[in-house]
Amino acid sequence: MKAKPFYIVLIGLLLALFSTACSSDDAEGSNGEGNDKVYTLEAGHSLPDDHPYHIAFENMADRVEERTDGQVVIEVYPNSEIGAERELTEGMTLGTVDMVVSSTAPVTNFVPELEVLDVPFLFKNRESAVNVLEGKIGDKLFDKMEEKGIIGLSWGENGYRHITNGVHPIEKPADLEGLKIRTQENDIHLAAFEALGAQPTPMAWTEALTALQQGVVDAQENPAIVADQFSLYESNQTYMSLTGHVYSVAVYMMSKQTYEELPEDLRKIVVEEAQKAGAEERELIVEMEQESLTKLKEQGMEIIEEVDTEPFQKKVEPVYEQVEHQDLLQEIRDAQ
Ligand code: PAF
Repeated sequence: MKAKPFYIVLIGLLLALFSTACSSDDAEGSNGEGNDKVYTLEAGHSLPDDHPYHIAFENMADRVEERTDGQVVIEVYPNSEIGAERELTEGMTLGTVDMVVSSTAPVTNFVPELEVLDVPFLFKNRESAVNVLEGKIGDKLFDKMEEKGIIGLSWGENGYRHITNGVHPIEKPADLEGLKIRTQENDIHLAAFEALGAQPTPMAWTEALTALQQGVVDAQENPAIVADQFSLYESNQTYMSLTGHVYSVAVYMMSKQTYEELPEDLRKIVVEEAQKAGAEERELIVEMEQESLTKLKEQGMEIIEEVDTEPFQKKVEPVYEQVEHQDLLQEIRDAQ
């Protein structure tokens, strides 16, 4: 074999030294996992930037960025800017959306077991809902989500859902007879409002405001904070009845694809901070709820505060039979 000239050997040696220097930089990266890559994650949700969904998400993003020395950057898009809740959820299953916080109702279209969370009058109170979610039932639901390509990070809440409308005060189920109401895209919600005698039309929140303004529907149901932040009194909504028919669970989630792309130490930080975000979000909802009710009253909305919910509960009883995952439903009932 012919010997290589000296200068070729020298160049080869220098190149080898240079490339070793680069990869060792990488190997000793700030996360100790062998790379300094920056992961920019797109997160979406449907509510404004002063809603607890967003505030807790942004606080989480700041903590994650700080703890990972800038290696994980979470960009949070409010107001359905990158999709409504159902689209965002689908995006996570496809790996086109990284993170989402959403009420559970539309997520059920991808993870059917979640239907049990939207059964009306299911939870005794907030505290028992949180106990169920933070316990083994919540973990079981997270496992089901993972099977569909979604990592459940933490449980939050959207608040108690109440009915608003522009026709008359709702005090008893008969007042709902024939009322055209926008519901979430969720079979249990649909069945519940049918059982109550209303005419439910499921649609994404992004379409709901126009539907209310144009009189396509007369009513909708959402927590007071949503009614306040979207000024529903300007969309023909004169009355709000505090039916509290569903404790609307929210969930912080991540695409499994994104999750698996993150090195383990960064993943751990994201999960830990998301868990804090869920708890912070729930606290903020409780703090802001009363304030929103006051603002709605100031804007001239009539709030029907003393609603006897028993007749409503009776009317929706058959919906319990329609739940497919009876075992899970029973587990939740037994746990309270
Ligand atoms: O009614 C809905 O679709 C949801 O409650 C909302 C407003 C998007 C928040 O999760």
